[in-house]
Amino acid sequence: MIWAQAHHRVIGRNNDLPWHLREDLKHFRTTTAGDAVVMGRRQWESLPEKVRPLPGRRNVVLTRDPDYQAPGAELAANLEQALALVADEDAWICGGGQVYDEAIDHADLLVVTEIDLSVEGDTYAPQIGAEFQTSEVGAWQQAENGVRYRILTYRRR
Ligand SMILES: NC(=O)c1ccc[n+]([C@@H]2O[C@H](COP(=O)([O-])OP(=O)(O)OC[C@H]3O[C@@H](n4cnc5c(N)ncnc54)[C@H](OP(=O)(O)O)[C@@H]3O)[C@@H](O)[C@H]2O)c1
Repeated sequence: MIWAQAHHRVIGRNNDLPWHLREDLKHFRTTTAGDAVVMGRRQWESLPEKVRPLPGRRNVVLTRDPDYQAPGAELAANLEQALALVADEDAWICGGGQVYDEAIDHADLLVVTEIDLSVEGDTYAPQIGAEFQTSEVGAWQQAENGVRYRILTYRRR
């Protein structure tokens, strides 16, 4: 799974990101390039049209609506179906909050950008339990807009 969180695990507000961090979008792009990405219907709808589907990646969208249309993506009616679609390749769960909560039990790697900001939010990253151990802690960096961030990696024990 891959996500970015501000203080108190905030990841979203009004179906959007509560910050602008070009460096993190680039990190997301390079980390997931060439792999499959699995996301919830709301996260899919939050993507700007020019990157929907996310280019250069197999896009899988979770929805319980059998009539939903997501041009350029494959649909999955439940998590099991989504994971079966990408079983033979590297795949990233990329949100949003509902999908992170449901999928963390299936994840073996978490790549988390910590953003040093206090922001209002309505969507939160899952708690990372003791089944994961920290494997890499990146140095704090300063983005071009002055925001501090660092990247942590957790692996399943
Ligand atoms: N900071 C970050 O790294 C990051 C990353 C991603 C997203 N976000 C933020 O997260 C927010 C969106 O998250 P969210 O929790 O509101 O929504 P979400 O997880 O993106 O999507 C929820 C929808 O996905 C479908 N879904 C979820 N679980 C399913 C299942 N097991 N089977 C079938 N369909 C399933 C349902 O669609 P239907 O209603 O169509 O059935 C559900 O309404 C936005 O604010 C976004 O910006 C932040």
